[in-house]
Amino acid sequence: MTCFLACMFTLLQICLVPSKAMLFPPENLTVGLLDFKATAEWLPGQGNPPGTKYTLEFITAQKMSTGKWIRSPHCTNITILKCELTFDPQPDELFWNYFVRVKTTFRGTSSKWSTTSKSFQPYGDTRLSSPNLTISTDQKSINVTLSHWLESKPGIRPLEFLLYLCGESPAGESKCVVPISTSKSSYIFPDVPSGKNYCVSVSASHQLASKNNNFNTTKCIFLLDSSRSSVLMVCIAAILLITFSTGIVVIFGCFYNTRLIIRKLGIPDALIIFPGDNCVLKLIPEEFQKMIQTWQKH
Ligand SMILES: *[C@@H]1O[C@H](CO)[C@@H](O)[C@H](O)[C@H]1NC(C)=O
Ligand SMILES: *[C@@H]1O[C@H](CO)[C@@H](O)[C@H](O)[C@H]1NC(C)=O
Ligand SMILES: *[C@@H]1O[C@H](CO)[C@@H](O)[C@H](O)[C@H]1NC(C)=O
Ligand SMILES: *[C@@H]1O[C@H](CO)[C@@H](O)[C@H](O)[C@H]1NC(C)=O
Ligand SMILES: *[C@@H]1O[C@H](CO)[C@@H](O)[C@H](O)[C@H]1NC(C)=O
Repeated sequence: MTCFLACMFTLLQICLVPSKAMLFPPENLTVGLLDFKATAEWLPGQGNPPGTKYTLEFITAQKMSTGKWIRSPHCTNITILKCELTFDPQPDELFWNYFVRVKTTFRGTSSKWSTTSKSFQPYGDTRLSSPNLTISTDQKSINVTLSHWLESKPGIRPLEFLLYLCGESPAGESKCVVPISTSKSSYIFPDVPSGKNYCVSVSASHQLASKNNNFNTTKCIFLLDSSRSSVLMVCIAAILLITFSTGIVVIFGCFYNTRLIIRKLGIPDALIIFPGDNCVLKLIPEEFQKMIQTWQKH
């Protein structure tokens, strides 16, 4: 009987212990940083029962040896596979290095921890979201206005903007000028050749961030060819002028011509002057006949 009980107990232990050990830790734990916020993500351990939950803890590299991990309530007993951590810029939390770990929990039991292999620093390792950008043109320049939502947050050191201006070359490919770095909220590209399409690309940056990793905003604009358009205006004006003056000449010509024709066709002259003879005769058909006869007799 004691043997049977012992056997049952051993069996129970064998059955229960694996079920505890069967809870696998989360896999592929990664931390991504955007605008100084960290988002830890992981995959569920394979074969864990449905309804498992997760708990995340973090610690600064300095305090690693003390083993005092910090738990944040919104990352405890959660069912989703990610959790966001925010850091306070005021006591320089952004500049510390952190490790993160996650475990699986199920009905009071827990898995082992999954820990990030590398630490991260919220300030230096963050990517910055794309800035707001408006562009406008003015004759031969492109006017750029820049802003980023982080600028309104206290404790964030001044942001820089990295500006690229690219224009289409005659061959149809894009040519860019050397990137410009500015911390001002507007920038003017002066003396830009007109008659081309331009694209401005801007990303935010700060001293410690890797500059190529940040998200950019790109906007394009067509810079009107001012010289060509003025030539066009002059041409149109000249054509109008020529048309107008030609019209006037033609109208005058017609008018004069009609007057001439009217004169030619018009009422006959009341008097006919015969050269040689100083005779002035009235044009009365009967008399005209007589006169010719008398002339022949002469
Ligand atoms: C998780 O990580 C392992 C190696 O650690 C890799 O082989 C696997 O592809 C990763 N899974 C995903 C979904 O990224
Ligand atoms: C998380 O779950 C465990 C086990 O169910 C429980 O003991 C603990 O109080 C829970 N914590 C929170 C913050 O809900
Ligand atoms: C550039 O644009 C901004 C806003 O659109 C405007 O306030 C500023 O006066 C412009 N600057 C010039 C030189 O046109
Ligand atoms: C950036 O633009 C979005 C809309 O596109 C606006 O909601 C936001 O307030 C703008 N941010 C800044 C800093 O201008
Ligand atoms: C802007 O970002 C896109 C991808 O998001 C990238 O392909 C492109 O090269 C970036 N432009 C610049 C000028 O960095």
